[in-house]
This record gives sequence, C-alpha cells and structure tokens, in this order.
Amino acid sequence: MLTDSKKILQDAQKQAYAVGHFNTSDLEITKAIVAAAKNKNAPVIVGTSEKAISYAGLEELAEIIKIEAENVKIPLVLHLDHGKSFEICQKAIQLDYTSVMIDGSNLSFEENIKLTEKVVQMAHRQNVPVEGELGALADKEKYQVGISQFMTDPDAAGEFVEKTKVDSLAVAIGNAHGVPLPEEKLDFSRLARIKEKVSIPLVLHGASSTPPEDLKKAISLGICKINIDTDIRIAFSQNIKEFLSVHQNVTDPREILGSAMKAVQKVVEQKIELFGSTQKARKNV
Ligand code: G3H
Ligand code: ZN
Repeated sequence: MLTDSKKILQDAQKQAYAVGHFNTSDLEITKAIVAAAKNKNAPVIVGTSEKAISYAGLEELAEIIKIEAENVKIPLVLHLDHGKSFEICQKAIQLDYTSVMIDGSNLSFEENIKLTEKVVQMAHRQNVPVEGELGALADKEKYQVGISQFMTDPDAAGEFVEKTKVDSLAVAIGNAHGVPLPEEKLDFSRLARIKEKVSIPLVLHGASSTPPEDLKKAISLGICKINIDTDIRIAFSQNIKEFLSVHQNVTDPREILGSAMKAVQKVVEQKIELFGSTQKARKNV
C-alpha cells in the first residue's frame, strides 16, 4: 500500500534500523524491488531520480509504482529522489508522490534554505514529507582537495532543519554516488555530532557497495534511510550479459528481463536484511 515516509522513518528511528530506498526507472526494476520488500515483509521507499523520469516519463513511472504499491500490503513510499526545483516537487505531488526530496545542495546555504523552505510549505499543505540535503556528496576531485570542507556542518545542519522544517536530512559525511572511490571513508564522528544537533531521521545517499559494517555503524548513529541505485543497475546489467552469453539464441525480452529481475530482487533482499528492516512492515500498516 502507498504510504508517506514520515511514519515509517519515525519507526526506523525509534527501533534503530534503516528503511531501504531503491531507485527505479522501469517496470522490471520496480517489480523486483516490490517483490523483494514483500518477501522480506519490509517497508520500502521506491525512488525516481530526474534522470529516471526523463527516461520513462513522470506519469508513466508514477503509475507503474502506484499500481505495484496497491498490489501489496507492505508500506511503500513513492519518492522523488534529488528533485532540483520547486516545480518538479510540485508536479510529483500532483501525481500522488508520497515523499519528495528537494536537493539544494549545490546552492549557497541561504539559497538552499530558501528553496527547501518553499518546497516544505507547499508539500506540507498536502501532507507530503520532504527530505532536504546539506553538504555536498563526495567525488574524486573533492577527496583530492580535502573532503571535509564539503561535508555537512553539524551546527549548520541544526539551523537548516530548524528554519526549513524538513522531515528528514541527507548528510554528506564522505559518501559518494556510484561505485565507492578507493579513498572513500565515512566520517562517523561528524555523523554523531550532526545527530546531536538534529532530531529528525538522517539519510545516507550513495550507499552502493559501502562495507556492511560501515552501514551498520551509520544506522547505529542515526541513519534511518539508505539510498541504493548503482548496485541495482550492476546486478541488472551483469545478469543480462551473463544470461545472453549462456543463452545466445534467446530473443524473448521477457525471458532476458525476467532473469535480470530475479538478480535485482536478490540484491534488494540482501540490502533489506543488512539494514535491519526485515519484518518491520506490519507495525507500520
Ligand atoms: O539517490 C540515490 C542514491 O544516493 C544512490 O547512490 O548509486 O551510490 O547507490 P548509489
Ligand atoms: Zn543520492
């Protein structure tokens, strides 16, 4: 069933586990994510990035996810991932998204507050929770020039949350999108200091292939939502390559994609298990 993210993240915060956020861009990945969450009886957040939306179409993607949500009893959040403008957040809410992220992390602190506050006011009028982001996610160049200057400042995080009234906050603590960088290292003491200043659920982006013990530690320090995209795409494409190398004469997309869906489902189930959200669905329904 379609639900908003507020209740499920509050439950995760209370019980010290994390809800998995998994990105989709099509029918197959959506079905695989939902099958995994159903199998694990876990609450789940299905995210669509602006790139996924431009690939599949906002209406089409939203419709697929809403239909899949109505077919299961577990709580499922339809979430806009890394929305960069007020307009895309508004459009998503008009299409029944139950959670949006406004990503003003590339703006100045003041501009980020202004944009996030505006989205929060609009979204809250329709009871839709908002995720904000403060600090810039890491990349190779940032690590080269010194990563800490780009990370979330704990005091600024406190001020940001207080002024914008966001419902959850994505933090930058050395995490990067994509396959982990060799030098990637999470700053746990910073995470603990952010936690002292901020009482809302914290979100970790770029968690694909992050060592399991690091993710467990991050959860113990207040991370309640973990975003996974790259590991899903790798599982999907790797499986198709292997399947076609073995079954060279198969031309039926349903067979090829059916195999890839199973691979995605397996990865999502492993993540749910790691995040501790297995069997947490019932409490939230
Ligand atoms: O917003 C999406 C996530 O942060 C995905 O990051 O591709 O490193 O798993 P990832
Ligand atoms: Zn992200």
